[in-house]
Amino acid sequence: MIKKIKESAEFLQREGMVAPEVGIILGTGLGSLVQNVKVEKTIDYERIPHFPVSTVEFHTGKLIYGELGGKKVLVMNGRFHFYEGYSLQEITFPVRVMKMLGIHTLLVSNAAGAVNLDLKKASLMIIDDHINMLPGNPLVGRNLDELGPRFPDMSRPYDPELITHMEKIAADKKIPLQKGVYVAWIGPSLETRAEYRFIKTMGADVVGMSTVPEVIVANHMGMRVAAVSVITDTCDPDNLVPIDIDDVLNNARIAEKDLVFLFGQLIQEM
Ligand code: HPA
Repeated sequence: MIKKIKESAEFLQREGMVAPEVGIILGTGLGSLVQNVKVEKTIDYERIPHFPVSTVEFHTGKLIYGELGGKKVLVMNGRFHFYEGYSLQEITFPVRVMKMLGIHTLLVSNAAGAVNLDLKKASLMIIDDHINMLPGNPLVGRNLDELGPRFPDMSRPYDPELITHMEKIAADKKIPLQKGVYVAWIGPSLETRAEYRFIKTMGADVVGMSTVPEVIVANHMGMRVAAVSVITDTCDPDNLVPIDIDDVLNNARIAEKDLVFLFGQLIQEM
């Protein structure tokens, strides 16, 4: 695996993606941050050696290199999900490559449904902690000692300083921003009423189908991580209505402005 990571990283360096500092993974429907990047190079995932091979539904995957907030950033516009059939190792491979390129800080966004009904649709939630309910862990298997420890600590997987910093940015701009726990669910089917009750009982505020594998691997390699969920739907088991995907995407679109500002400002002030 180390050899593959190096080959991917060397390919990207040859293509001009040199010395990025901050990595950004954009969630579904959250791609507009790219418009604020002074883009220097864009590469389709298909062209990158050892990147996961695309599934049919996956057409938008692009790696974007450029400048944002005065820093060199590497943006994954489109991520890999477990429900698409990728292994947890495949999903997290790009994060390995980011670290190899020198990235020290990873910012992650996702769309999520709120089981904590205090969270409003089209608002943002800082992820303070997570619960891994995916069937496995990307670190299972022989440990790559060159990259990180066998038993990486998970006492604070989301960097407390970055969290405080984002809270300050949001307060100054009067962006409503809560903090809570994200649980990663397999999908692609949405959750049943009974599952939403279970999710709430286990201590989660929001549920989604991504993020946790990437965050585990980033922590393994000692990267600083911050993650934000865009609340696209509320999951009230006592009043559950069928999911409206257009409404989900629309809420993502509404909240995206705040997310773009938050990440942009965070990078600039970092
Ligand atoms: N459940 C799981 N994933 C999601 C949801 C949800 O309700 N909303 C957006 N992503």
